[in-house]
Amino acid sequence: MSKVSIIYYSGTGNTEKMAELISSGVSQKESQVKLLQVSSATLDDIADSDIVVLGSPSMGNEVIEESEMEPFVESLKDIISGKKVALFGSYGWGDGEWMRNWQDRMSEYGAVLIGDGLIVNGYPEDEEENRCIEFGKSII
Ligand SMILES: Cc1cc2nc3c(=O)[nH]c(=O)nc-3n(C[C@H](O)[C@H](O)[C@H](O)COP(=O)(O)O)c2cc1C
Repeated sequence: MSKVSIIYYSGTGNTEKMAELISSGVSQKESQVKLLQVSSATLDDIADSDIVVLGSPSMGNEVIEESEMEPFVESLKDIISGKKVALFGSYGWGDGEWMRNWQDRMSEYGAVLIGDGLIVNGYPEDEEENRCIEFGKSII
């Protein structure tokens, strides 16, 4: 059974809702899921997972959230190599640049990316809800 940790930052709840929907998709497969805000996550959660799913909204100027998510992601640099990783997050007005850069960065760290990062404009509703659930199912 795959152990999956979903670790996210969300300021206004949009990425959090994505995390919950992805978690429900993962749970539909044979798996053990942990859903954590990044402020409660530790490197042991990473070491203990077969698949790591990271979520951050686009902030600043097309970057991941800088006070909590950025230092956490930086701390993965030397331990994430070879680990399966999926990325997701909500954005407002951009074209997904923050996600493309984040994917490149995780690849540089040696992570094995599972597909393209899932991005949703604002709060996931209707079809977007389903995309999040399907994304969760697809990473197992
Ligand atoms: C300080 C700040 C900076 C932002 N910068 C960007 C940006 O560069 N590009 C973008 O598409 N959206 C940007 N946004 C919009 C957020 O990504 C968007 O509102 C997102 O849905 C927030 O997700 P959350 O509810 O999980 O915090 C920014 C929002 C804030 C508050």
